[in-house]
Amino acid sequence: MKRLFRTKPVEHLHAEAADDSHGLKRVLSRMSLVSLGIGAVIGTGIFVLTGHAAADYAGPAVALSYVLSGLGCLFAGLCYAEYAASIPIAGSAYTYTYATLGEFMAWIIGWDLILEYLFAAATVAVGWSKHFIPFMKDFFGVALPEQWCRAPLDYVDGKIVQTEHFVNVPAILLVWVICALLIVGMKESARFNNVMVAVKVTIILLIIGLGWGYINWDNLTPFIPENTGEIGKFGWSGVGKGAAVIFFAYIGFDAVSTAAQETRNPQKDMFWGMIGSLGVCAVLFVGVSIVLCGMVSYKELHVDAPVVYALEKVAGDSLKWLRMSVEIAVLAGLSSVILVMLMGQPRVFFSMARDGLLPQAFARVHPKYGTPHITTLVTGAVCSLLAGFLPLNLLGELVSIGTLLAFTVVCVGILVLRRTRPDMPRPYRTPWVPFVPVMGALICIGQTLLLPADTWLRLLIWMALGIVIYFAYGRHHSRLKHHG
Ligand code: ALA
Repeated sequence: MKRLFRTKPVEHLHAEAADDSHGLKRVLSRMSLVSLGIGAVIGTGIFVLTGHAAADYAGPAVALSYVLSGLGCLFAGLCYAEYAASIPIAGSAYTYTYATLGEFMAWIIGWDLILEYLFAAATVAVGWSKHFIPFMKDFFGVALPEQWCRAPLDYVDGKIVQTEHFVNVPAILLVWVICALLIVGMKESARFNNVMVAVKVTIILLIIGLGWGYINWDNLTPFIPENTGEIGKFGWSGVGKGAAVIFFAYIGFDAVSTAAQETRNPQKDMFWGMIGSLGVCAVLFVGVSIVLCGMVSYKELHVDAPVVYALEKVAGDSLKWLRMSVEIAVLAGLSSVILVMLMGQPRVFFSMARDGLLPQAFARVHPKYGTPHITTLVTGAVCSLLAGFLPLNLLGELVSIGTLLAFTVVCVGILVLRRTRPDMPRPYRTPWVPFVPVMGALICIGQTLLLPADTWLRLLIWMALGIVIYFAYGRHHSRLKHHG
């Protein structure tokens, strides 16, 4: 029993972080980290969920939902930053938990991160494919065969049903192209990400700048529509529920911490990578929400593509080029989200394998490219199967709950580490402890409570599976067991 809670000594972790014999290459600068963070964050959330959260829960106050959810992320991000600067290891929350709450909890969080990174990548790949079909039609006049662009299974009213489609080929191809890029090099991947980020940020700035002129201020009053009598339907509780829904939009900034062993100066730059990207995204999110709800009534925004819908309604054909650009921004945006998620996942597996909790092959690094190629291939294979065949609405909502759980444990871990290792050198210290970690944990837990009960059930099933694997494999192969 004691072994389950044995922690990995921080000294071991510092030695690992300082030792570059693992083969990963230190190529990332501060700016590349900020760009990776923005790359991971801006995706489906801002372009789709903003409209849904406004129409169903928060009204124009969805901007406040973004502020609230952003605050939870900021608090968790400040905790991540202390860890990532002090323990700059690719395993991120998994490794931090190993140092604070012990091996079993670390495994649980490592297993949980699969929900955040791998499942998110698969979910977003399916979303990408959905946008790719009209894009090919609108831009190139090519009609792709639907049967080969959607999964053969769907999830309707709690049941898995067969569809008339075969497989989602575009989603599978995209995952493999991105994995190939990630194997060839971190530098090359970061460059690709920079281009995608430049495209999506420019288009978002154009939406805010040009959309501002079309705001009808009547649409924004009352800013917080009156509650309907049901909790979560407008009013302040609606702002809270909206925050839980749009939390998905912020997911990804923490993936920056998985690049710690490939960063030139992680002690100084991790903070900027995470908090900088979070700040930029929060400002853009609030800007888009205000413009969107200002252009049309929030009641009309429960549509597939709210931004395109609003632009068409207020500007007709005069902003057609901007509407078309939004399609490009979405495709660029989603591909960089997938890139960073598929970068993060193999690095967590890499750290778990180095600790003996996963097979050693996962810890191999390509001799020429300096990337964890085996775990990238395994991650890509699983991700492409999920994206190609499974109904992802079944898995998609697990992404948020999984991430919120990881954030909560990171916040709690900071409190534990301040007690157990007050003397540890900390290149960056989370400010206002215990306020920041306690608030971070509370906001994250609060948001999980607003998610549907069956999401919780699925989380428990996923965790039970993880626990079985730990007792069947990890526990016996743990390095801590042999050397600790
Ligand atoms: N934050 C990412 C998105 O919104 C996961 O697509």
